[in-house]
Amino acid sequence: MAERVRFPTRLRPHAKTHKCSQVAALQIEAGAIGVTTATVWEAAALARAGIGDILIANEIVGPAKIARAVEAGSAARLTVAVDAIDNAKDLSAALADADSEAGVLVDVDIGMGRCGVRSAAEALEVANAVSQLPNLRFDGVMGFEGHCSLEPRRDKRTRLTRAALAKLLETAEHIRANGIPVETISAGGTGTFDLTGTDPNVTELQAGSYAFMDTAHAAVVSGFDFALTVLATVISRHGSTVVLDVGKKTLGLETPAPIIPTTPSSIRYVAEEHTVVDLEGVQSMKVGQQIEVVPSYCPVTVNLHDAYLVVDDDVVVDVWPLVARGAGWSSGDAIR
Ligand SMILES: Cc1ncc(COP(=O)(O)O)c(C=O)c1O
Repeated sequence: MAERVRFPTRLRPHAKTHKCSQVAALQIEAGAIGVTTATVWEAAALARAGIGDILIANEIVGPAKIARAVEAGSAARLTVAVDAIDNAKDLSAALADADSEAGVLVDVDIGMGRCGVRSAAEALEVANAVSQLPNLRFDGVMGFEGHCSLEPRRDKRTRLTRAALAKLLETAEHIRANGIPVETISAGGTGTFDLTGTDPNVTELQAGSYAFMDTAHAAVVSGFDFALTVLATVISRHGSTVVLDVGKKTLGLETPAPIIPTTPSSIRYVAEEHTVVDLEGVQSMKVGQQIEVVPSYCPVTVNLHDAYLVVDDDVVVDVWPLVARGAGWSSGDAIR
């Protein structure tokens, strides 16, 4: 992916896909400028593990999360997303107390209707406020075209993405026209990488899922291999129906269904602890046999596991912990 983005865009892969410092380090070695995270927990854990440049592409609200962001900022170059002036003030105060600083991207809603300011005028107000607040550095704008990235029809995906990016770029221009430099324009996912990642105005691409791929993203983009599978055991067979010991608690589940690349088959359903598979044709799959299942949506799958078994040529060569999995508690937090 680092090679497929086109200058001046650089890759800042979303680490929610893997939550693992070893994968993040490989991405940086391959040319990424740092990583993106969704949570302060991911940012703090990856910063502690030595990842040096982190964007939290999400609003950080409340003293506990802000404290975590400040912790991440003490170990890495930190940038955060903001869509409200009060939130910027809270971040500024906490960073000042810690004698630390963070970059800020004003988060712009470019069509998803999730977080983000709703207009260029509002973005300018937030950018102005951020520029004047101590310990914050206004760097630019970000948006996420999540409503476009899994659109299966290429022409519609292109049209929607161009419209979403136009909104982000117009916002950046409005801020610039009012005398505030905008250095960073950050956006993009795997499904839009070749549109957003080749736009001459976009400086950072936040795509994440490409690293492992899954059935949701393979339905939209090609050219990236499946790298993450869940190892399942056949626990029951009746005719052409096979039952696997993986389910929603190990595979996770989104759409489309998971697949078993090595075996002609279709997945009838995924339950809590079982997956029921219909084999196609005559096959000698026995109870006890192990097979690899490609999940629907890796970011949800990985969060159900503690570690990766790293396989090279069918041999487990390493075990990499998911340092940032789960809801975000750690020994430093009081759990009541
Ligand atoms: C803000 C943001 N940026 C980037 C991404 C990465 O998208 P993908 O997993 O399709 O690569 C996401 C995914 O949800 C996101 O929420």
